[in-house]
Amino acid sequence: MRPVSATIHLAALRHNLAFAKSKAPQSKVMAVIKANGYGHGLLRVAEGLRTAEGFAVLGMDEAVALRQAGFQQALLLLEGLFCADEAMLAAQHELTPVVHNFQQIEMLENAALPKALDIFLKLNTGMNRLGFTAADFAEAYKRLSQCRNVAGITLMTHFATADEAQGVAAPLALFRQMTAGLSQPKSLANSAALLRYPETHADWVRPGIMLYGATPVSGIPAASFGLRPAMSLTSEIIAVQNLEVGESVGYGMRFIATQKTRVGVAACGYADGYPRLCPTGTPVLVDGVRTRTLGRVSMDMLTVDLTALAGAGFGSEVTLWGRAANGVVQDIDEVAQAAGTVGYELMCALAPRVPVVVQD
Ligand SMILES: Cc1ncc(COP(=O)(O)O)c(C=O)c1O
Repeated sequence: MRPVSATIHLAALRHNLAFAKSKAPQSKVMAVIKANGYGHGLLRVAEGLRTAEGFAVLGMDEAVALRQAGFQQALLLLEGLFCADEAMLAAQHELTPVVHNFQQIEMLENAALPKALDIFLKLNTGMNRLGFTAADFAEAYKRLSQCRNVAGITLMTHFATADEAQGVAAPLALFRQMTAGLSQPKSLANSAALLRYPETHADWVRPGIMLYGATPVSGIPAASFGLRPAMSLTSEIIAVQNLEVGESVGYGMRFIATQKTRVGVAACGYADGYPRLCPTGTPVLVDGVRTRTLGRVSMDMLTVDLTALAGAGFGSEVTLWGRAANGVVQDIDEVAQAAGTVGYELMCALAPRVPVVVQD
């Protein structure tokens, strides 16, 4: 069997959740597990994070799958109802839709539901994707408060720059101004805000990326926050090539040896989810020792520098990201940075053809 596989570490999920709870001890945790649990597998991460007070997902299918698997906590639909029919499904499965536009308010007003829904009412504080503007917020709140199909209202926003130098001061001030005097529960913080701005914690925090052990703040390693990787992408060396000076490796001859170079060919490529954009020099672990990639990543293989790793060869373990057998961690964010992206994208792009092993 081709040796590439991903390991999902349930203990790391539990650790990261406990860490989030320790940072925001007064808040309930709405663990964000959309996008197939950020690529880790929806039900797998729900299992690892089962002590979270709630889960946030995107679609009805994910929410229903969680209910069918027996999860009884609050299930937040982050984009709310996409059509009127979903109001009934939400009621049947006791889901909590975000309400971010007047079309969704109409869906709720016009529905005949067996049971009123808890909802999260979203204020747009500058992200300008979803949510009511400051001008429309009071009207939205009034209509939802009067709607017979609405039970509890939680007031929420989502920050555009919690992970940047700009921080959250302006959107937080706007949120406070718009919700002043409203006693409803509140929810503001994603991972970056949870870690950096305790003043945003409120009733529900909504961490995503930190639960998977990647950094929410580029430039600050996840490990420095005390987070552990929940996903390892691992393979093996399946061939070794010895390059003379002037010889190259891979498509486009992107790496040309300037000294005798031992090249290991790892069974992992962009069709497995490893970014093709990673250039020569991207860090990788071989038998738990840090080395670098050489040349272009191809569909099913990539090549690594074994020159300084005398003991490494055919069958050696290759850790593209996550934890090696010897416990050394290759930070997914370093790989992401080499590819000009973020850890989120790499996790979500893990290819379906990669077999997944769950480790407790
Ligand atoms: C509304 C909302 N809250 C929370 C999160 C979690 O963000 P993060 O993964 O950065 O913690 C997301 C993710 O995109 C989101 O859309």
